[in-house]
Amino acid sequence: MEKANLGRELNTLLVNLENGVAVITFNRPKQLNAMNIEVMAELETTLTWAANEPDVKGVILTGAGEKAFIAGADIVMFRDMDAVSGREFAIRGERLSRLIEDMPKPVIAAVNGYCLGGGSEVALACDMRLASANAVFGQPEAKYGIMPIWYGTKRLPQIVGMGRAREIIMTCRMVKADEAERIGLVNKVVPLENLMDGAMAMMNAVLANSPLGVAYAKRAMTLNWDLDMEHAGEVERDLGAVLYATADKNEGVAAFVEKRKPRFQGR
Ligand code: COA
Repeated sequence: MEKANLGRELNTLLVNLENGVAVITFNRPKQLNAMNIEVMAELETTLTWAANEPDVKGVILTGAGEKAFIAGADIVMFRDMDAVSGREFAIRGERLSRLIEDMPKPVIAAVNGYCLGGGSEVALACDMRLASANAVFGQPEAKYGIMPIWYGTKRLPQIVGMGRAREIIMTCRMVKADEAERIGLVNKVVPLENLMDGAMAMMNAVLANSPLGVAYAKRAMTLNWDLDMEHAGEVERDLGAVLYATADKNEGVAAFVEKRKPRFQGR
């Protein structure tokens, strides 16, 4: 692992590069990695860098320490928030989660403990979620008289179904790792000590494929989620047609015929 060079120092995140994978670690373990405005600003800078840096092939998000991925937005911030700043805060969080969802590279959440509120919404924006056995999910916003505003009300129902999402958001109850796996909130649960290796293995399974095929399919899934068949077909057709004109398609097919591993260039 080497420290990534973003051209500036960060206070709240650790960013390392491991074989082309940017590992972004939320690093406020004393506050259970709760997200304040500084974390949000640094995450935005880092995700933008990761999206544009050719050496970065994929991103893994995780939390420092053994207790938390992100225990939500920093609740102390809410004290001084009014309607206007609350709305700006929502827009910032939406922007962050869309940077993840729109990134043409795989993004995996390695959830190592509490994953609550805005932390859960960050994880929901990722392509895949791997959780340690001590992971705990929840959307406890209504306990504080607020509600999920970083697309939690949209993505949680998409991922676990409307009935379960309503229960989780309206009761504010915590969902432990085994239940999270059962309801499809996480892809897999592993022992805490295997979490980062597991996330890297999941990432490598994606990176073995054509980066263009993966990126375009990710984009199609994002765009198509709530489109009708006519428009979803249009999206698939147009994105899919471009892939037939790529070197990666020729390489993938040639490798199959020649019974060898493909060497994709993302071209
Ligand atoms: N915002 C700000 N500070 C937070 C935080 C948050 N979301 N979550 C935890 N912290 C802080 C605690 O205030 C505490 O700080 P202190 O040591 O200065 O008192 C420190 O992190 C450790 O948390 P603590 O509550 O002592 O740990 P715990 O193991 O007893 O409980 C939680 C863990 C996650 C159950 C509990 O911290 C909690 O409920 N946090 C709030 C989570 C939440 O509702 N997030 C969504 C907000 S919309």
